[in-house]
Amino acid sequence: MKPELVLVGPMMPHVMKALDEDYVVHRLWEAGDRDALLAEVGSRVRAIGTDGHRGASAALMDALPNLEIIGCYGVGTDSIDLAHAAKRGVIVTNTPDVLNDDVANMAIALLLATSRRICVGDRFVRSGQWLEGAMPLTRGIRGKMLGILGLGRIGKDIATKAAVFGMEIAYHGRRQQDDVAYRFYDDLVAMARDSDYLVAICPGGEATRNLVNRAVMDALGPEGVLINVARGTVVDEPELVAALRDGRLGGAGLDVFLDEPKVPEPLLSMDQVVLQPHAASATTETRHAMGDLVVKNLRAHFAGQGVLTPVG
Ligand code: NAP
Ligand code: 8YV
Repeated sequence: MKPELVLVGPMMPHVMKALDEDYVVHRLWEAGDRDALLAEVGSRVRAIGTDGHRGASAALMDALPNLEIIGCYGVGTDSIDLAHAAKRGVIVTNTPDVLNDDVANMAIALLLATSRRICVGDRFVRSGQWLEGAMPLTRGIRGKMLGILGLGRIGKDIATKAAVFGMEIAYHGRRQQDDVAYRFYDDLVAMARDSDYLVAICPGGEATRNLVNRAVMDALGPEGVLINVARGTVVDEPELVAALRDGRLGGAGLDVFLDEPKVPEPLLSMDQVVLQPHAASATTETRHAMGDLVVKNLRAHFAGQGVLTPVG
């Protein structure tokens, strides 16, 4: 008999197909009455398939008394109640490493898009302004300092790529890493003060909420640029809007926001800001690899083997 699985939101067609082959899949987002569905099938369900946005709450887990495993399509697990999963003895898996390359590429793309004002240039050409004269000069990145908040798997890939562009690299985290030659700052404000660009790529959640606060933005300064590919919660968003509006911060490249898909209205008309719809891992290749890893983790568990990428 196939194990039963609650799928919180849709996944790529090849993932849905693989899940349908292996499990009886209950599609939560299609249920007219979620509570009624959970009340009907909850005691039979042994797995949850979810993503970084939808996560898994304690209430959802508790509606599934025989839950064994949560497979998350995404590396960030801040939307999953990990403490509750641990208390319940539920295994959580995520999709580390397979997305490093594309997420790092998005950070670099935002860095170049803000420094070289790529979107401004595009609008300059399309609107016919070029016919009236040249666009103002932009800024190069060689020799500039890139401060990385969260030098983990993705942060290290960003560092390697930024070094190829001739940038100086520094990082901030909770501890200095012995095997890393980049300059370590134990004080984020001090790193921001010395940086031209600050990239946030640490986990979201309460431990990192508003780490990038007004003091950090002011330290980065009117010529400084913030790139956020981590989570909206890592940056104090109202302070970010105010700092950009007042010119205390030079610019921002943002892939993530506090209340996605809603974006603070003032950001929409700011030329010094480049916006993305939480798309850093959103290439066909990477999303395929993430989906495959979700399927492999669940298969390993139900085959009685250890999962490939457990969280914690
Ligand atoms: P990782 O390998 O675990 O790296 C996380 C880094 O953050 C570590 O270097 C860690 O260093 C640092 N960190 C953790 N807590 C911190 C704190 N309280 N203060 C300062 N630094 C802290 O994770 P990863 O695979 O690189 O992914 C990082 C995050 O990127 C994910 O959790 C996710 O939120 C985000 N992400 C976003 C997208 C997107 O689509 N925009 C895609 C993928 C991932 P220490 O342990 O030394 O503090
Ligand atoms: C995904 C992400 O877009 O991996 C993460 O942490 O934020 C992204 O890769 C997300 O998990 C899918 O909802």
